Amino acid sequence: MSTNSSPISVVVHGAAGRVGIEVVRAVSAAPDMTLAAAVDRVPQTDAPALPDGVPYYTDIRHAIEHAVPDVVVDFSVASASLPMLPIVIGAGARPVIGTTGFSDQQVEDIDGLCREHHLGGVLAPNFAIGAVLLGKLAAIAAPYFDYVDIAEEHHEAKIDAPSGTALGLARAIHDAHPERFSRNTPEREPLTGTRGGDFEGITIHSARMPGRMAHHQVTFGGPGQTLTLRHDTIDRQCYMPGVLLAIRKVGGLEGLTVGLDVLMGI
Ligand SMILES: NC(=O)c1ccc[n+]([C@@H]2O[C@H](COP(=O)([O-])OP(=O)(O)OC[C@H]3O[C@@H](n4cnc5c(N)ncnc54)[C@H](O)[C@@H]3O)[C@@H](O)[C@H]2O)c1
Repeated sequence: MSTNSSPISVVVHGAAGRVGIEVVRAVSAAPDMTLAAAVDRVPQTDAPALPDGVPYYTDIRHAIEHAVPDVVVDFSVASASLPMLPIVIGAGARPVIGTTGFSDQQVEDIDGLCREHHLGGVLAPNFAIGAVLLGKLAAIAAPYFDYVDIAEEHHEAKIDAPSGTALGLARAIHDAHPERFSRNTPEREPLTGTRGGDFEGITIHSARMPGRMAHHQVTFGGPGQTLTLRHDTIDRQCYMPGVLLAIRKVGGLEGLTVGLDVLMGI
């Protein structure tokens, strides 16, 4: 990794994607980092313009042959990350992974690869610092309430419901309140599905429409009071402070660190 005098060199994998574009911008603007290369499967003509002199590759192997970076940031798809990771870790670069969709076994295997090469890595299902804090704050509140609803709203193109973040919130709330939450079951249900999903008594509602990006609201209820915690994502720049934090911290880690909360020290 870099010292005080040399910037951290970073390759972005998935650089033409919606998040990858933001990572290219953020790394280019960070005074302690150098964008060593951008990689995506799309031809360069279809990729966004890069800062002068930054090479673009459609194959990670060519980027690594050109120069081994300190860190490879990956926002692509799991099926592309899995063959890419042994190449970059084997070459001595540390992965910072935002891509979602890995199985538990695959996460274990990535950890094993990092340890085999005595390198650190970071995998965070959510790089938005506010969303990570929402999970922590919800876990603090959970033991004090018997009712809880999670309402999540996303753009109309989202393929899954509920969101991975909503499920992660439900798990964090359940871990902090292991007994099932109270949940009303209607005596009559003229329209099915209106009570939402049920995760250990935690109700989850998912709304989808244009004009939204990613919004998560947790409302706890008890006699005479409710407590509402809410996080709104309105731009993919929201992930960048978390990504830059991981790039700066990964050099001091060994093995794969899962979750930004660990790096935030919370
Ligand atoms: N961890 C987080 O905070 C967070 C936030 C947003 C999105 N994500 C995840 O990040 C990933 C990317 O999201 P996105 O919205 O930018 O998607 P996207 O589809 O806009 O971008 C993905 C990019 O990966 C590229 N790609 C696909 N296969 C490739 C390959 N074999 N080699 C190189 N490049 C390849 C695509 O061409 C595309 O440019 C998804 O898995 C998404 O779920 C994570």
